[in-house]
Amino acid sequence: MATTVALPKQNLIITPTPLHPLPRLSDELGIDLWIKRDDLTGFAFGGNKGRKLEYLLGEAVARGYDTIVTCGSAQSNFIRQLATGCAMLGIRFIAVVMQLPYEFEPADGGMRTEGGNLLLDEFAGAEMRLIPNDKWDVLMAASRALRDEQVALGRNVFEIPIGGSSPQGAYAFYEAASELTEKFDIVISASSSGSTQTGLTYAFHGSSTRYHGVACDPEPEMVLEFVELARQLDQITGLSRQLTVDDFTYDLRFVGPGYGVASEGSLDAIRVAAQREGVFLDPIYTGKAFHGLLEMARSGELAGKKVCFWHTGGTPALFALP
Ligand SMILES: Cc1ncc(COP(=O)(O)O)c(C=O)c1O
Repeated sequence: MATTVALPKQNLIITPTPLHPLPRLSDELGIDLWIKRDDLTGFAFGGNKGRKLEYLLGEAVARGYDTIVTCGSAQSNFIRQLATGCAMLGIRFIAVVMQLPYEFEPADGGMRTEGGNLLLDEFAGAEMRLIPNDKWDVLMAASRALRDEQVALGRNVFEIPIGGSSPQGAYAFYEAASELTEKFDIVISASSSGSTQTGLTYAFHGSSTRYHGVACDPEPEMVLEFVELARQLDQITGLSRQLTVDDFTYDLRFVGPGYGVASEGSLDAIRVAAQREGVFLDPIYTGKAFHGLLEMARSGELAGKKVCFWHTGGTPALFALP
């Protein structure tokens, strides 16, 4: 049971999200496999970001912000859900986006800059500013410039970090862990900006459940950010759990060609989940995480284990494959 903290909150999603077994794949893989359906949050096409947004938008309303700015990739699932939440609350929303931001070198084969999440952003009334592909730092600088531009117009602006990664976002996942009504040996999900991984890792700390994050960004140093996020989360909960780098499993084996680009393994994993269990995954996050799960099961890494795959959503991006 999670310690409950009274943070400002807007109710957006339906919880608990479903948790159910995957019998065909369990038989096939020789593990006891379940799925946690955060693709079915009932808010803005679902996905893990709805949990974080309840707190981020709670803060926005509590502080009286009239404008929210953020940045991300053009097919961002976070931006789709944030845009929708802002529309519902009457908050102006502007995002600066790149088709394919990168850390070192651009990869080939990013998602299209039309359809998918961008179509939904348009229906949600979002103002989207597409800039040329460049490094993440350039994208974040553009977000700051956008914030300054809006402040100069006299607006009360909340700049939300990429992917909504914040202590409140991590808290939302710490809290979500208590929705698991079954005890698992391992919980596996996609990991990127970090609050999902941090919140779940923090929640299971000291228990027999292990959280395994499958990286969607080829950046091992992200773990240092997770440690810092866990420290900030600990200040919220007051539980004095001190997490170190060794507490985080950030598995970089299944990133494929790079952030924001589908891998062969993720496309195969989407086929497997759809054809065996009627569950659709996405090409950038959950497909890669499920690819990891399948490989780990096939290699015997998960033998005899009770495994939960945490489906973090993202399916609109299926309709923006190149
Ligand atoms: C579908 C999906 N799954 C997983 C993630 C990763 O979550 P986090 O940013 O909390 O690491 C994202 C983030 O963009 C996402 O859109």
